[in-house]
Amino acid sequence: MIRAIYPGSFDPVTLGHVDIIKRASQTVDELIVGVLNNGAKAPLFSVDERVGMLKEVTADFPKVRVMCFSGLLVDFARQMQANTIVRGLRAISDFEYELQMAQTNRKMNPDVDTMFLATSLEYSYLSSTIVKEVAFFDGDIREFVPEPVILKVQEKVRERKAQ
Ligand code: PNS
Repeated sequence: MIRAIYPGSFDPVTLGHVDIIKRASQTVDELIVGVLNNGAKAPLFSVDERVGMLKEVTADFPKVRVMCFSGLLVDFARQMQANTIVRGLRAISDFEYELQMAQTNRKMNPDVDTMFLATSLEYSYLSSTIVKEVAFFDGDIREFVPEPVILKVQEKVRERKAQ
């Protein structure tokens, strides 16, 4: 029985994230999308908004649950009795940090292993940071995020600019 966690900031969820969620959920028995609630990062969306968007875009994926967590990922994994962490790898530049995280997590909790999925080619350039950057300069983000997320990002960016 593989219960996996796909952790991230998801600020906002992109089509690349959805691709990983879909593919990972076909491989494992249960997939918990873990949304990091970390005050230090000053996200665009609140954790509740990020969880809400993920729930909406994964509503048709039967094995997927969306939850938020704070603190260490390995503690969340222990709490959820998860034995696997899923991460997407876009490029070699991701590898060093991802390997370091995987090894640190395994050191802290040897019961949890990390599984990497290669990002689909069509999303290999994509990140939440890029989406926010494009949106802040009024660029078209329709090919980057799921349909229900487009307006929410544009609205949030408008609010930020008005502040
Ligand atoms: O979407 P991101 O920012 O690439 O996700 C990073 C995330 C959430 C996976 C990572 O920052 C994390 O696991 N944070 C929780 C704190 C933790 O456990 N840190 C130690 C990892 S070595």
